[in-house]
Amino acid sequence: MATNRTFTMIKPDAVEAGNIGAITKMIQEAGFRIVAMKMTKLSQETAGQFYEVHSERPFYNDLCTYMSSGAIVPMILEKDNAVEDFRTLIGATNPADAAEGTIRNLFATSIEANAVHGSDSDENATIEGSFFFSETERY
Ligand code: CMP
Repeated sequence: MATNRTFTMIKPDAVEAGNIGAITKMIQEAGFRIVAMKMTKLSQETAGQFYEVHSERPFYNDLCTYMSSGAIVPMILEKDNAVEDFRTLIGATNPADAAEGTIRNLFATSIEANAVHGSDSDENATIEGSFFFSETERY
């Protein structure tokens, strides 16, 4: 059954480029309510924990180095059909394949520096939101 929440992070490239406001505006104008939000920075180790599912992939170490290279903005978002609708809003993982007008089409620079993360399932949305926010913060 679909839940109504998803999890996202604005990644270091988009934070560094000054796109927090533009991306957050697109998210809100698409009908998502921001349940939780903060600006923080991952260590290589905590990035590794977050992306543990990709630990066997060839890009894992580079991904963790990149994700710990600057500030990020994790958020929990609420909307009907949140996981699927958010993935539509952000576009394909590789910005070269992202549909016109999607967040990655507009703001991403490479498959690694792809502006935002979006959960791929309701289960992972819950796990990922809990990684960054306490129970009180997720209320
Ligand atoms: P994200 O949605 O955060 O989930 C895993 C991330 O790994 C993905 O976005 C990309 O930034 C990164 N990624 C996926 N595939 C590749 C790849 N082939 N090369 C480098 N990075 C990748």
